[in-house]
Amino acid sequence: KIEQLLAEIQNLSAGSSEEIEALRLKYLSKKGEISALMADFRNVPADRKKEVGVKINQLKQTAIERINALKEQFEESENTDESIDLTRTPYPVQLGTRHPLTIVKNEIIDIFSRMGFILADGPEVEDDLHVFTKMNFAADHPARDMQDTFFVEQSADDVTKNILLRSHTSSVQARVMETTQPPIRIICPGRVYRNEAITARAHCFFHQVEGLYIDKNVSFTDLKQVLLSFAREMFGPDTKIRLRPSYFPFTEPSAEMDISCHICGGEGCGFCKHTGWVEILGCGMVDPNVLEQCGIDSKIYSGYAFGMGVERITNLKYQVSDLRMFSENDTRFLREFESAD
Ligand code: PHE
Repeated sequence: KIEQLLAEIQNLSAGSSEEIEALRLKYLSKKGEISALMADFRNVPADRKKEVGVKINQLKQTAIERINALKEQFEESENTDESIDLTRTPYPVQLGTRHPLTIVKNEIIDIFSRMGFILADGPEVEDDLHVFTKMNFAADHPARDMQDTFFVEQSADDVTKNILLRSHTSSVQARVMETTQPPIRIICPGRVYRNEAITARAHCFFHQVEGLYIDKNVSFTDLKQVLLSFAREMFGPDTKIRLRPSYFPFTEPSAEMDISCHICGGEGCGFCKHTGWVEILGCGMVDPNVLEQCGIDSKIYSGYAFGMGVERITNLKYQVSDLRMFSENDTRFLREFESAD
């Protein structure tokens, strides 16, 4: 009987997983043939017990091996089945979204690129020379205190030796002018740092985009037209601009620019504090001292510069009222900009 089963088992074959399972039940389950043999074992005469026991165990082992081999064969052939899509991802991957500040920065770059501005950048850890001195802040100039600077290395007796986190992107103007003769037409997007308490309206870092144009016969009219075009591209064709006199050490004359509030259309709302106007940037004609400090002849060349906060533009464009949202990485907030990109 054992010999017969052994021959049977060695020649087993199956065409489906159901058939394999049926074979397993037939031979290996508690009610299967091999268990039946084992139940019979007590009827085997004592002198043959050893011989028969070894044979039954061999039979069981062969049955297990044969059935496992059948299973493996079957699984292999199933894996090559064409109905399985091997390129499918194992689980859905959630795509991230571009950050709102990146979206708006790219839009600003886009608008100025179309007007012929090219990109420039510079380091965030800067020296005093580029942030202040060459930008016409004298060593004892009170305007050095206008921006609350983070110092990396502070010199006891010579402020021009300080190393600091740049407090504005105007430092990039100095870097480009030092190495390039006009015509210069650049925009410089970048992060800037100021030592301010973090609130809904201020942060210790934010982002600016600086613009600089230097050539022969550049006038304030050119500046005004470029900024008007920018405002209309950014906030819609009906946007109006207003320039108010202001002061920066590196521009003369200087101005701050407001746009008509696009939320209430200039009627007056909470966003523009019922004035109909919101401030978006600082600008002016590059001070001849800055040109000279950077090796450009101010008798031949003139230019304009402007600088805006990317957070500010984003606040207005998407009506985000709390600056802190931009750096908290709350995906519920970030996902709202999925379709803006
Ligand atoms: N650097 C100025 C600021 O950070 C902005 C500015 C840039 C003003 C260029 C005029 C010209 O406030």
